[in-house]
Order: sequence, then C-alpha cells, then structure tokens
Amino acid sequence: MAQQPQRIIKSSFSSSPRSYSSISNRPVSLLLILLLALFLILGVLLPWPGSPLLLFPNRVSSYSTSLSPEAKSKWRDYTLAEAAKFVAKNGTVIVCAVSSPFLPFLNNWLITVSRQKHQDQVLVIAEDYTTLYKVNEKWPGHAVLIPPALDSKTTAHSFGSQGFFNFTARRPQHLLHILELGYNVMYNDVDMVWLQDPFQYLEGSHDAYFTDDMPEIKPWNHSHDLPPPDGNGETYICSCMIYLRPTNGAKVLMKKWIEELESQVWSESIRFKANDQPAFNLALNKTANQVDLYLLSQVAFPTGGLYFNNETWVKETKGKHVIIHNNYIIGYDKKMKRFHEYGLWLVDDIHALESPLGKLQ
Ligand SMILES: *[C@@H]1O[C@H](CO)[C@@H](O)[C@H](O)[C@H]1NC(C)=O
Ligand SMILES: *[C@@H]1O[C@H](CO)[C@@H](O)[C@H](O)[C@H]1NC(C)=O
Ligand SMILES: *[C@@H]1O[C@H](CO)[C@@H](O)[C@H](O)[C@H]1NC(C)=O
Ligand SMILES: *[C@@H]1O[C@H](CO)[C@@H](O)[C@H](O)[C@H]1NC(C)=O
Ligand SMILES: *[C@@H]1O[C@H](CO)[C@@H](O)[C@H](O)[C@H]1NC(C)=O
Repeated sequence: MAQQPQRIIKSSFSSSPRSYSSISNRPVSLLLILLLALFLILGVLLPWPGSPLLLFPNRVSSYSTSLSPEAKSKWRDYTLAEAAKFVAKNGTVIVCAVSSPFLPFLNNWLITVSRQKHQDQVLVIAEDYTTLYKVNEKWPGHAVLIPPALDSKTTAHSFGSQGFFNFTARRPQHLLHILELGYNVMYNDVDMVWLQDPFQYLEGSHDAYFTDDMPEIKPWNHSHDLPPPDGNGETYICSCMIYLRPTNGAKVLMKKWIEELESQVWSESIRFKANDQPAFNLALNKTANQVDLYLLSQVAFPTGGLYFNNETWVKETKGKHVIIHNNYIIGYDKKMKRFHEYGLWLVDDIHALESPLGKLQ
C-alpha cells in the first residue's frame, strides 16, 4: 500500500534498558524467551500497521496476578456467551482483542471509553492467560479467552504456518459468534482513543459501519457508500473499527471475511498472513450488493494517516473528531510516544484511575 510508512526494523531488545528491568530479578522462563523470539521475528518480517500483534513491543511485559487457582480456573471456563451476556447493555457489546504487551494501550483506550460512559459494555478478548487473569482480577467478568491462547505452542513453533495464521485471523469469527448470540457489536483496536461518543454517529439501521483508512481529504458531505476501488483495484477500509448489527447482512459479511482469510492461508503474500484488513476489503467488495454498508464520516473517524500528518486539517476540523486511530506508524514505543505528544496518552499520570483497571502493574 503506497501510503504506508517505511518499515522500521528494530533489531535489538538490549538497546532499551527498560526492556530488561522488569524481568531482571526473576527467572526468565522459556516461554518469555520464545515470546521474545516471536516478537523479534514478527517485528522484522511483518511490520504492517493495523494488527496489534505486529506493533513489536520492545519491552517485556510482566504482570503478576493474585488470583487463586480456583478463580483462574473459573475464568478459564468463562465462555463468550456468558461474557457477552454479562457486559451487554442495550443489546450492544464493545470488544477488543488484546495480548499482554498491549495492556497499557488497552488501559489508555479504556480511559477514553469510560469518559463516554460506555466502559460497562466492554469485553476484552484476551489472547493470552496473563491478559485474561489481569483484566478479570481488576475488573471481574470483562475478559474472556477463546482457546487456543497465544503462547509458545501457537506462535513460536508455528510461525507462518496455517495454525498461526488461524490464530491471527480469528477476529471475524469472534464477531460472528457475538452476532449469532444476538448482540450489536462494536470492535475497536486498542491503539485508538475516543474523544466523543461514537454511538451517536451510527446513523440509520445499516448492517455494518466502518471507516476509510485512506488519508486523502474527502469533502465534508462525502458519500456513505463503500468507496470505489482506487487505481490498483483496492479499497482501504480499516478493519480497526467496525460496528455490526446482528442482521443477516452483517453475518454474510463476517462469513465472507472468514472465507477470504481462509482462501489466503497459503497465499504467496506474507502481507495477507500478517493482516486481516485486505481480506476484509475483499469481503466488503464481494458482498456489497447483499449487505447494507455504511462508511462513517472521515472528519469524525479520521485515519491516523490524516490526523497525525496534517495539522492544518486537524485545526480546521477541531471539535468534530470522534475516534482517533494511532496508525500509519510502526513500533510500540513510537505509537506510545505519538500519543504522548498529542496529549492522548493518559495512563501514566493521574488519569489511570479513570480506567476500570486502575494502574496496571
Ligand atoms: C441505552 O439506551 C438508552 C435509550 O436509548 C440510552 O439513554 C442509554 O444511554 C443507553 N445506554 C448505553 C450504555 O448505551
Ligand atoms: C486452520 O483453519 C482451517 C479452516 O478453518 C482448518 O481447516 C485447519 O484445520 C486449521 N489449521 C490449524 C493448524 O489449526
Ligand atoms: C456536497 O456538497 C456540494 C456543494 O457544497 C455538492 O456540489 C455535492 O454534490 C455534495 N456531494 C454529495 C455527495 O452530497
Ligand atoms: C469490487 O472490485 C472490483 C475490482 O476492483 C471493482 O471493479 C468493483 O467496482 C468493486 N465493487 C464494489 C462494490 O466496490
Ligand atoms: C492538509 O489539510 C489542508 C486543509 O484541509 C489541505 O488544504 C491540504 O491539502 C492538506 N495537506 C495534505 C498534504 O493533504
């Protein structure tokens, strides 16, 4: 994709003293080493924006839990149906998918969701047990893990394999499952922040709402239809924020997305393995005449490629932004730094207490 920033390869963990400080006084487990190796591989080979897995954190997260073995076992058995029922309000669930290195981003996003009073509807799909336990310890009932978990078995050993791809490509399956349970579902990547309540922008009763990832400025009154493909025959709808109603149309779209991901399993292009966004765009294209689609307004839901790159535009459109996506940048620390620079990183100071998770450690 021409608009994507140059890939940036971080080759060393040791360049950052902080990366070791958190693990220096405990035995480094084999799992950690495998995870480190995985992130190194991912960071080098798959530097695509979009998927949180691929942001390549250069520090090791280590969260401890005080949950008892009984409590852990209870959360391991917690199902998506139970969790969705527990968090849903007005028949709506807000979901994100998170692995433990991204807990700070989850917390940052949660602060902004809480400011719009929608935190009670949040369900964290935990990709590893650390996340499952940590979130449910601090905020019981708000995390669920749909096996298999991300661990050395599903990752380091099988990188590039169908099993690994199946793991990274589960997002539409989770969303479909929630639709089949009868809920509206809002999916967000956690490298986002809410500045306003997005629900008031979900106008009409369409099947699926989404945002454009193209940074080109559109007229304020642009069409809400799926944009036409560009010169390469591609659209760049973001798979980062999707709202779906539990309609047949939305289910058809999720099934097509799953199908597109499956048909790309052995694709030559590593890009398809790394990122579910191209498959989502293909699914939108192929189901456009069966599904009632709604493109959200650019000014309210700008791509990071516009918001963080055009100060003039941001000033001109001040007060109209609803969700900001910190994309079009590669690297965990760079993302965090950019949020800092724009006053959108809230977890490090007093604001952390606004999150239902409080301060994480
Ligand atoms: C549920 O819907 C009611 C009525 O539309 C609204 O006032 C309320 O804020 C909604 N609650 C949530 C959590 O969205
Ligand atoms: C991956 O998913 C496909 C399609 O659902 C399935 O047929 C296959 O067995 C899965 N492979 C692994 C290794 O999990
Ligand atoms: C947007 O507004 C301009 C005039 O301000 C008009 O010419 C154009 O047709 C409008 N476009 C759409 C998609 O409504
Ligand atoms: C789907 O993609 C094809 C090939 O790029 C294009 O010709 C067609 O207009 C697209 N359909 C929609 C609904 O965007
Ligand atoms: C930045 O935004 C301004 C104001 O909307 C616009 O005129 C200008 O073309 C934009 N610059 C780029 C590089 O897109």
